[in-house]
Amino acid sequence: MPSEKSIYNPNPAISRDAYISSMAEYRKFYEESLENPEEFWMRVAKQFHWETPADPKKFLQYNFNISKGPISIKWMEGASTNICYNLLDRNVRNGLGDTIAYYWEGNHPDDYSRGLTYRKLLEEVCRFANVLKDHGVKKGDRVSIYMPMILELPIAMLACARIGAVHSIVFAGFSSDSLAERMFDCQAKVLITADGAWRGEKPLYLKALCDVALEKAEEMGHTVEKCIVVSHLKRVTACAEDHVEQDIPWTEDRDFWWHEEMEDKEPACYPEWMEAEDPLFMLYTSGSTGKPKGVLHTTAGYLLYAATTFKIVFDYKPGDIFWCTADIGWITGHTYVVYGPLANGATSVMFEGTPFYPDNDRFWAVIDKYKVTQFYTAPTAIRALMKFGEAPVLKHNLNGLKVLGSVGEPINPEAWLWFYRYIGKEKCSIVDTFWQTETGGHVITPIPGATPMKPGSASFPFFGVKPTLLDESGVEVKGEGEGYLVFSQPWPGMMRTLFGNHERFESTYFSKFPGFYCTGDGARRDADGYLWITGRVDDMLNVSGHLMSTAEVESVLTEHHRVAEAAVVSRPHAVKGECLYCFITPNENETFDAKLVSELKKLVRERIGPFAMPDVVQHAPGLPKTRSGKIMRRVLRKVALNDRNVGDISTLADESVVDQLFKNRPADK
Ligand code: PRX
Repeated sequence: MPSEKSIYNPNPAISRDAYISSMAEYRKFYEESLENPEEFWMRVAKQFHWETPADPKKFLQYNFNISKGPISIKWMEGASTNICYNLLDRNVRNGLGDTIAYYWEGNHPDDYSRGLTYRKLLEEVCRFANVLKDHGVKKGDRVSIYMPMILELPIAMLACARIGAVHSIVFAGFSSDSLAERMFDCQAKVLITADGAWRGEKPLYLKALCDVALEKAEEMGHTVEKCIVVSHLKRVTACAEDHVEQDIPWTEDRDFWWHEEMEDKEPACYPEWMEAEDPLFMLYTSGSTGKPKGVLHTTAGYLLYAATTFKIVFDYKPGDIFWCTADIGWITGHTYVVYGPLANGATSVMFEGTPFYPDNDRFWAVIDKYKVTQFYTAPTAIRALMKFGEAPVLKHNLNGLKVLGSVGEPINPEAWLWFYRYIGKEKCSIVDTFWQTETGGHVITPIPGATPMKPGSASFPFFGVKPTLLDESGVEVKGEGEGYLVFSQPWPGMMRTLFGNHERFESTYFSKFPGFYCTGDGARRDADGYLWITGRVDDMLNVSGHLMSTAEVESVLTEHHRVAEAAVVSRPHAVKGECLYCFITPNENETFDAKLVSELKKLVRERIGPFAMPDVVQHAPGLPKTRSGKIMRRVLRKVALNDRNVGDISTLADESVVDQLFKNRPADK
């Protein structure tokens, strides 16, 4: 599917009604947001409730330069508020009590589905806040959460926020070791989980896994005092006919059923007024040293940023139905399933299942069922679904869609175009949103009614974000060029520290280039000023002195009509320094043969240059992906080296993929 055009203008029907309807308007706001951030964000803050108003003179204080002292970022110092109050009470008071906050769709289409209004959500949150209080949870305590995508998850998060406890969600695909390590690191007082959940046809026994993690945390020297468990398995359809329910392991006086605890609780709970810079939540993200980093976000700035990016980047209007497919266990779910939508009084779909169950048209069926207007997903999902062609899409009416979003990795133009044509029917804007756990919300992204789109480019910075490209020695790359992507001033939603380790925060993000927050990603600016994320700098490679990113080679490989997915790693090379080692997953019903290998090599040679010619192209029927869909490149590098010492692979969705890859290695020359 060759790209016919390099630029796609927004549909005029979208621009006409959009909050930001032209590039001129975008630039006007953008410039103001950089020149006078205080004024800009003060205006945004007006829509929210502040128990103590901000001091305009202290609206923003920061030091980004490590050579001038400790790094610090403070927004709205002196103001106090409660984010849960702003998301729920404020909306109910503004007349949205009967508006649906969430439509919940289960793993199986026949599972009960449930709609939850803002009023009911507020009541449930208050009741659970009272449960937490009764168990001794206080302001500043950490609460670990390990749950499937069920409504009790946002209820638990907001209950924490209501009483000032800091939630630390661990994606429920992580192993018990990972959960234990994270509960130990944050010294969690309470763990909230569910007995289990179905993922496609597979049951997951979360409580059993939590028990192992609780024991491990104990061995590490930390006791998590209480564990509150949602009874979820019984209320959904058992998918496998021969499934035998397991006993849920239980420890008296430590474990409590959610529904029993909720029974006698008051549906009202006075919110704890929090300082603007009080912690809201922490979320672990992997670090290059292997030890996860507890990224900490605070109250006021995160609220302003989550709310504004959601409204502007998805152009959300009352009556729209928003669906973000990300699990709440990742930052995308925190900001765009929970905080951003609720801050805007939005209606969202929350989905427990997978794109492939019971059939590979499930996404399209859900969009049709709820008449979704904004759909936000990951390139990996798009590429996986592209393999099945157009037929599953055509079974459903997707005409309500306005904005399509992509997040998590660079989207290759092939996938972009497929999304644009077959899902968006060439009428929707695609927002390729670049951001990170650390940034709290979108930082580089198109705006649907304004930005002419280039497939694969995240395009321009969001309000308040000032990107710079630097070369290895810290010299700014102006105009066209490629370099390290860094930011030179804070925006409200950025992280404030790493939990319990401010030094690691400073050294990871602020020491490489003093005066700048370093994303760890590379980017290229084209002649029109568009930014193209080239991938993690750690996935950069240097072949014969040419700096390139694995992502750019992958993008070329996936252009081939027989290729579904490609992953490229670097392998040491005696002459060139490094060379490219490519893993290829062909489309369904396609074979992998010598002809394909030579066509792919030729394609890369043609598109990037002879220096980028891959040395090895290997068949990969499956790629080693985490349950969130991220490719574990570390494993691929080991396969490329024929080194069986792959390390911990417990976070992989399917560990058997690794053996298969070793078997498929072509003989080393
Ligand atoms: O490399 C970038 C990539 O994902 C990284 C952040 O991962 P995480 O903290 O898990 O957050 C993912 C969801 C926000 C970034 O450093 N990334 C994310 N979005 C994009 C992207 N790369 C290219 N284009 C994107 N749109």
